[in-house]
Amino acid sequence: MPLHSTPCAVVTGAASGIGRAIATAFAARGVNLLLADIDRAALDDTVRQLAEIAPEVHVTPVIADLCRPDQVAALASRTFEEFGRVDWLVNCAGMLLSGRSWELDEQQWTRLMDVNLWSVVRAARAFVPRMLQQGHGHIVNIASLAGMLPAPWLAPYTVSKHGLVAYSETLQQEFQALSLPLRVSVVLPGPVDTGICRHIETHGGDAAVDGTNTYLRGMIAEGMAPDELARIVLAGIDQKQFWIFPHADMLKAALRQRHDMLQGA
Ligand SMILES: NC(=O)c1ccc[n+]([C@@H]2O[C@H](COP(=O)([O-])OP(=O)(O)OC[C@H]3O[C@@H](n4cnc5c(N)ncnc54)[C@H](O)[C@@H]3O)[C@@H](O)[C@H]2O)c1
Repeated sequence: MPLHSTPCAVVTGAASGIGRAIATAFAARGVNLLLADIDRAALDDTVRQLAEIAPEVHVTPVIADLCRPDQVAALASRTFEEFGRVDWLVNCAGMLLSGRSWELDEQQWTRLMDVNLWSVVRAARAFVPRMLQQGHGHIVNIASLAGMLPAPWLAPYTVSKHGLVAYSETLQQEFQALSLPLRVSVVLPGPVDTGICRHIETHGGDAAVDGTNTYLRGMIAEGMAPDELARIVLAGIDQKQFWIFPHADMLKAALRQRHDMLQGA
């Protein structure tokens, strides 16, 4: 069957965790895939796993640093050249960093904002014009509960995810206001059992930061299985939901606290 007659999803951050699980869930539905990540060895593992599960699915791995605008643009060109279409763009690449907000240096802040927020803006700049030409397309942004709830010692992460939620909302509002045939979903997961903590560092024996890191690692290790998260995300996409809340109870509890706090305003 020609590639352009089969739906196609682009998944960033597909070498690991949530991105890999979402790619796997799409593959199980027979969706062709272009998978992007910066980690070559891990992306090769994803491709090997998919070949076992869904050998009929066409999977193209692309090593790309989403902090590089030229590489993101090349990703979009490659997708449309090879598959002739993109039905879903799932922005899943991300990173986590902890520390006192005033001690993390500008390079650390910049890198995190670049990976978690700017890469998504870049991807929209590269993919949306082509999606408009093809007449459809669905952008799925993996944000976090941290996009609604500030967390101490995680300032860059929290700021990037608040930005991603705001960006997703405005993008959707623009599509609607202009009656464009594109849609957006934003996913706000709580803890999911992935390797996202592997790069968080200890910061000079700072008890508060190190305590947070230990807490985070424990919470993530006990988090939702990535496959379950992927199932919820695809169900939300099927139902054309803008908001996808895999951990609705955690969100509600935290928002109640905020609501109570604002009662005094
Ligand atoms: N794990 C959780 O508890 C959790 C909770 C809420 C939100 N999220 C979000 O889900 C997304 C996926 O996280 P995960 O938990 O699967 O983590 P993960 O570390 O397992 O996967 C992230 C992937 O992004 C890739 N990546 C990082 N920088 C990149 C770059 N510059 N270019 C290309 N690829 C890059 C990594 O190589 C990795 O494969 C992230 O946006 C994260 O913030 C995770």
